[in-house]
Amino acid sequence: MLYRSVALYNLLDKEFGWLSVIKEVFVFIYVVAALCFTVRYRIRFRSAGIYYLKIISYIYSKSKCMATKKKILAIIGSTRARSSNLFLVTEMIKASADIFDISVYDSISKLPHFNPDLDTTSPPQEVAAFRKQIMEADGIFICTPEYVFSLPGSLKNAIEWCVSTTVFSKKPAGLITASASGEKAHEELQLIMQTVETVFTADTTWLIQGIKGKFNAEGILVHQETQSQMHAFIKAFNTLMER
Ligand SMILES: Cc1cc2nc3c(=O)[nH]c(=O)nc-3n(C[C@H](O)[C@H](O)[C@H](O)COP(=O)(O)O)c2cc1C
Repeated sequence: MLYRSVALYNLLDKEFGWLSVIKEVFVFIYVVAALCFTVRYRIRFRSAGIYYLKIISYIYSKSKCMATKKKILAIIGSTRARSSNLFLVTEMIKASADIFDISVYDSISKLPHFNPDLDTTSPPQEVAAFRKQIMEADGIFICTPEYVFSLPGSLKNAIEWCVSTTVFSKKPAGLITASASGEKAHEELQLIMQTVETVFTADTTWLIQGIKGKFNAEGILVHQETQSQMHAFIKAFNTLMER
């Protein structure tokens, strides 16, 4: 009965996570049913009470852990509509849906060119909005191709707008370079993100070479090794966030 109850609870949590009242009602019904069971079979109340408390605390701890999905902001270095980097992030959104709430920052091409003269206490509106999204995220992903042995200009521009701030400081970061080759950009990305004080480990950096060939015409990740690497990356990033 206990396992069925917890399974049903988890199902409700998954399907109706936003409707927390259902969870509370479910716990209430469970407690009442358990009390009736005790009375019916004359189980001693003291030991039964401890048993119920354990069940309820387990259910609540499960609920807390499932309800607090980590908010990730994914910044994509390519502005192409059919970007492989965007396809990859889309796959990651699907693969990590139970632990991460990943949103894609989609306005990188709307940021003005970085100009220190505009980097004042009231910066351009798009810049302020970008910084706010980073601040509000629990962690960030940067997923980018390499352009002429470096980071794409639009991504570098976006990061430059944050250098005078602390928005990236202590922020857990997943750094992905997905490109034809990408080695130089991957090195640069790590150097830059270390400079703006994000936190990352070797396991939360990932260089994917020959990225276009990993997807089919519909933009689905079909390369099995990359799929396994993606799952390992998600796991490593979750571990980093829980440190
Ligand atoms: C202007 C330009 C420069 C590029 N330079 C490089 C490069 O230096 N190294 C590399 O690995 N790929 C380079 N590429 C190829 C990209 O890695 C490849 O097109 C990648 O799929 C782009 O990512 P996306 O699919 O997310 O847009 C370049 C592509 C363009 C358009």
